Amino acid sequence: MNPALRKTVIAGNWKMHKTPAEAKALLGELLPLVKDAACQVIVCVPFVDLPAALEAAAGTCVAVGAQNCHWETSGAFTGEISPAMLTSMGVSHVILGHSERRTYFGETDQTVNRRLRAALQAGLCPIVCVGESLEQRQQGITQEFVSMQVKIALQGVSREELRRVTFAYEPIWAIGTGRTATAEQAGEVCAGIRATLAALYGKECAQGTTIQYGGSMNAGNAAELLAQEDVDGGLIGGASLKAPDFAAIVAAAR
Ligand code: 13P
Repeated sequence: MNPALRKTVIAGNWKMHKTPAEAKALLGELLPLVKDAACQVIVCVPFVDLPAALEAAAGTCVAVGAQNCHWETSGAFTGEISPAMLTSMGVSHVILGHSERRTYFGETDQTVNRRLRAALQAGLCPIVCVGESLEQRQQGITQEFVSMQVKIALQGVSREELRRVTFAYEPIWAIGTGRTATAEQAGEVCAGIRATLAALYGKECAQGTTIQYGGSMNAGNAAELLAQEDVDGGLIGGASLKAPDFAAIVAAAR
């Protein structure tokens, strides 16, 4: 990370965990532990937990995010949530294009692009997830593949809007597997994403963009990953569900 050039951001992705009552309890435990955070802290919770999380986090340094949003403002899209619905509640952030959505729910680079443009238009700060499969890594196409995901996601996104976008490099083979990318692997791909951003928007914009690593990040490996120049934070799954573990990762981002 390089706090002189860009924000360090530690975000929790709770995925499909915690009822509203459990969310309230987890945040009650977490908030005192991260009150002196030197980085930006975000919790991305299930839709039904948003009211409880917003209430618990009000007036604290912790921002609240959702885990997806649709590209339309309203309409016949059963089961979907629009960006305007999120902002109307006070939600500031949203994860887009997570590999679990790509794998299980038919998300494509094109739909990620539509969601991203709509989220930006509504005033949200999106966290866009990209990352290769194990097969793609073994084929040696990681950088090209991730670069393509970044380019398609950003079609039609202005330089001004890019300031609100965070990227999360999440190698699929490292998610929930306990198999973390090495700090060098994480640093290399995050640097590749920055090079793609530089080619699209110029060096200054690229240097100002936060790029997180995600995939089995925990209290034990966070400091080493964050020591990489181009790893500006983390998107944390499993370890974000335990307040002391998540707080330890936040503390590592100093
Ligand atoms: P884990 O930290 O559980 O590997 O999950 C990472 C992730 O998918 C965050 O979005």
